[in-house]
Amino acid sequence: MSSSDASAPAETATSGPMIKFDKVVKQYGDHVVLDHLDFEVARGDRVTLIGPSGSGKTTILRLLMTLEKINDGVIWVEGDPLSHERKGDKLVPASEKYLRRMRKRIGMVFQQFNLFPNMNVMENITEAPIHVLGMDKDAAVARARELLEMVGLTDKESAHPTQLSGGQQQRVAIARALAMDPDILLLDEVTSALDPELVADVLDVLRDIARTTDITMLIVTHEMKFARDVSNRVLMFDAGRIVEEGDPEQIFTAPEHERTSRFLKAVLAAE
Ligand SMILES: Nc1ncnc2c1ncn2[C@@H]1O[C@H](COP(=O)(O)OP(=O)(O)OP(=O)(O)O)[C@@H](O)[C@H]1O
Ligand SMILES: [Mg+2]
Repeated sequence: MSSSDASAPAETATSGPMIKFDKVVKQYGDHVVLDHLDFEVARGDRVTLIGPSGSGKTTILRLLMTLEKINDGVIWVEGDPLSHERKGDKLVPASEKYLRRMRKRIGMVFQQFNLFPNMNVMENITEAPIHVLGMDKDAAVARARELLEMVGLTDKESAHPTQLSGGQQQRVAIARALAMDPDILLLDEVTSALDPELVADVLDVLRDIARTTDITMLIVTHEMKFARDVSNRVLMFDAGRIVEEGDPEQIFTAPEHERTSRFLKAVLAAE
């Protein structure tokens, strides 16, 4: 990155929070989804977001992915404003160019595996590293093979998405996100659309990533055992606010708030 580009994100902040929501407001029309939401995520944190349907979990991830714009407040990623860029000492709405650069730091895997249907597995994984990061094709292919090994799909690099099970597609989607070498990985109910027997393989891959990398992870899941295994913090949301937060042991065994225990009972009853 050119040091003469004044609008370039600093990319140097190694202290301070990885993610900071600062009085973030998000509304759709008159419906306020996030009302001055504040929270921070430290570098290397594995945070699980739980809460009832409609409480704003996906919205938070989509804002981080810059798929949605906030109405007020600022989101900071590694000390750089995500939704804004610095102009002198002021913050102004971010340009597309700035957003593209910030987006590279963040990978997301969605509930519905959204692989490119016209590309095979290898092409799905290497497309962005080659065309967005400008990676050399051989290097991108070599890295993709490492990632395919990690997700247990070495023999599938020429397969097309329709030739794969849902669980296999989701593991390709995870490999594709990691191929961009993101600092932050966002996972939105990545196993909810899978047949039960395919869930374990995907969760094992994610456990592996949590164990072997220092990627900061924000995880929305109803898999409470997985959340307990992987995360070091749980945030309980209701109506766009954090009701309660703590380490998984505390939240899952001794929640302080009635809303949290009611929610957990409902989730566990559904399992
Ligand atoms: N594009 C949109 N237009 C209008 N309203 C929206 C839009 N996206 C989300 N919402 C509303 O914002 C609120 C939060 O939605 P969000 O998807 O973040 O909830 P969630 O916590 O992820 O729920 P779930 O557990 O069902 O996935 C909901 O009331 C939803 O209806
Ligand atoms: Mg959601």
